[in-house]
Amino acid sequence: MASFLRAIFLAHFAVEQRVRKILVTSALPYANGPIHLGHLVEYLQTDIWVRAMRAQGHQVTYVCADDAHGTAIMLRAEANGLTPEQQIAQVQREHERDFAGFHIGFDQYHSTHAEENRLCSTDIYLKNKEKGNIAVRPVKQLFDPEKGLFLADRFIKGECPKCGAADQYGDNCEKCGTTYSATELKNPYSTLSGATPVEKESEHFFFRLPNFEPFLKHWTRSPGRLQSSIANKLDEWFEAGLADWDISRDAPYFGFEIPDAPGKYFYVWVDAPIGYMGSFQHLCRQRPELGLRFEDYWAKDATTELYHFIGKDIVYFHALFWPAMLEGAGYRTPTGVFAHGFLTVNGDKMSKSRGTFIKAETYLHHLNPEYLRYYFASKLSDTVEDMDLNLDDFIQKVNSDLVGKFVNIASRCAGFIHKKFEGKLATTCAEPELLQRLIDAGDSIAEAYESRQFSRAMREIMALTDLANQYIDEKKPWALAKVDGMEAEVHAVCSVGLNLFRQLLVYLAPVLPTLAAQAQHFLNIDSLSWDSRKSLLLNHDIRAFEPLMQRVDKDKVAAMVAASQESLEATAASPNTANAMPSTATANEKANAKTDKQAKSGAKADSAAETGVIDIADFAKVELRVALIEAASMVEGSDKLLKLTLNVGPLGERTVFSGIRTAYSPEALVGRMVILVANLAPRKMRFGISEGMVIAAGNDDGIFLLSPDNGAKAGDRVS
Ligand code: MSP
Ligand code: ZN
Repeated sequence: MASFLRAIFLAHFAVEQRVRKILVTSALPYANGPIHLGHLVEYLQTDIWVRAMRAQGHQVTYVCADDAHGTAIMLRAEANGLTPEQQIAQVQREHERDFAGFHIGFDQYHSTHAEENRLCSTDIYLKNKEKGNIAVRPVKQLFDPEKGLFLADRFIKGECPKCGAADQYGDNCEKCGTTYSATELKNPYSTLSGATPVEKESEHFFFRLPNFEPFLKHWTRSPGRLQSSIANKLDEWFEAGLADWDISRDAPYFGFEIPDAPGKYFYVWVDAPIGYMGSFQHLCRQRPELGLRFEDYWAKDATTELYHFIGKDIVYFHALFWPAMLEGAGYRTPTGVFAHGFLTVNGDKMSKSRGTFIKAETYLHHLNPEYLRYYFASKLSDTVEDMDLNLDDFIQKVNSDLVGKFVNIASRCAGFIHKKFEGKLATTCAEPELLQRLIDAGDSIAEAYESRQFSRAMREIMALTDLANQYIDEKKPWALAKVDGMEAEVHAVCSVGLNLFRQLLVYLAPVLPTLAAQAQHFLNIDSLSWDSRKSLLLNHDIRAFEPLMQRVDKDKVAAMVAASQESLEATAASPNTANAMPSTATANEKANAKTDKQAKSGAKADSAAETGVIDIADFAKVELRVALIEAASMVEGSDKLLKLTLNVGPLGERTVFSGIRTAYSPEALVGRMVILVANLAPRKMRFGISEGMVIAAGNDDGIFLLSPDNGAKAGDRVS
């Protein structure tokens, strides 16, 4: 009878512990630029999630790839004197090196320029064609006769048809905000060759997205599929009406040729998400011992789960086109698409001139990757809010939480166990309730990880860490050790301390994989699975303790920032990158530009809140003066800057480089009065020395210079 009951209990238990089979992806980074800390928000978020789910016993497969196709990559290769294949192979090696450096544990890192992906793309296209989801019609587009290329909007500039502003891109005017089509620009020119583009017609292939409207409306609102803010955003798109999606590009193009359409290629965003499939298929074939079957994960009736982690800039592609293409071709669709926000550094958009555009490689030269893993974890949530990496806060938080609190527990206890008890923990647990409290907390922490509320998980773990430290502080083993007859008490306290440390280690292991592996070795335990925490370490041998983590060194952070400034100045000056070549697709770029501005306005508020109140003396340190713009000109090699010559009355003439080019044409500025920060230390820039700063307001709509009312004269003080 007893064994019968146990069988029922076990069966019940087995149901509760069902092993979920999950396929997880991060977005595929473009193969034409280095991985930077912004990218890492996503890859670290995904990697931590994957590790946490695995620790809970699920079978998780994590795949990614380089996104290798498109005009930008083709042109980049050309500029570097490489074939596209050589170009993408080189970048892929660098990407894989950087990801490994941050312990991002892909099961497969592939490329979209791979045979599996060609086959999957062709298959999905042909099935959609068969279903009537593909249309063909002629499109008139601007063509660069010198380069022999059709020009995407971002490769065309000219004068705004509405306000006449010079040097506006082919889709909208950054000065007056008008949107138009590239053919409406006055005096257009190709940014690739300078040639005047000509209009030319060619056949394009379209994916009929409107065919999927009812499906998508339902799909996007299915429980668990999307964050609600994203689903709401999609509703706006539904209201605006779905349109056919242009999925073809004419030769020359680096990509896959469309079947039965010589000279026509799939637009990069067609085969990019299909790259998730291609990468997984490669894994199934490469490593049969894993027992992964392609159909189990992609067939219409698959019962496995599929999650995509992406940035908020590429939602459109992942929550509309991608599920529609899959649905149209008779495949399963994603279980969930999880979007995150953008990274700012020190409250602002990552900036090359400030040294906050930090490449993964540069970071790794100076700092331990697990610092960043923890810092990001402590800030990540399940929302699409942007996230700030404040470097002072980073140093403070990592040093206080990980070194000061967490690692400290082990270092305070291990010494006594070795010195006095031959490395063996006590045979009984002196504080079962305290330990039980930490064990019980594991459910909530597991839930926080799964729901991507990492900051909550870290807060809960740190609260437990505080409890453990309080316990040790109260018991004072270092004092007890000096008192005769208190040996057993010292043994008990330090054994409890190390058991508490073990619980916390299980909880932090998804975030700190190398520290966890080292600590696991020291604790001499064979698992860090979530369940393993439930058995206490009693009468257990531990190994010698070695320091698990150094404090973050402020100087190294400063060195990293300095190196970022240098390395990027060097790239900016190199002839290969001097021609303004955006690294992302048009839609993506627009989204980026938008998010950047949003990030900026949000972050400004943060840093104001941090610095708090100043007194009048602080304010008086800033010398503001009225200045008259006597000359203004473009700055060669910069998209952002204008060179201003200012008359500051008694202070004489000043040269200032101002980042207002997107908002003002030089002609519009001459003769205007502005406000100058006159006592700012001169700054050496690539283009010359900037002697002050002109102040302006900024919001999502643009940049707005401040001017005095009539009557003010050049050189007047502003206070
Ligand atoms: N190639 C496309 C994705 C194709 S997926 C089928 C792409 N590549 S990307 O290199 O521009 O970006 C890769 C991922 O990194 C995207 O999800 C993007 O949102 C994310 N991030 C890039 N810069 C970022 C920040 N500054 N901050 C946070 N995430 C960022 O888009
Ligand atoms: Zn305009």
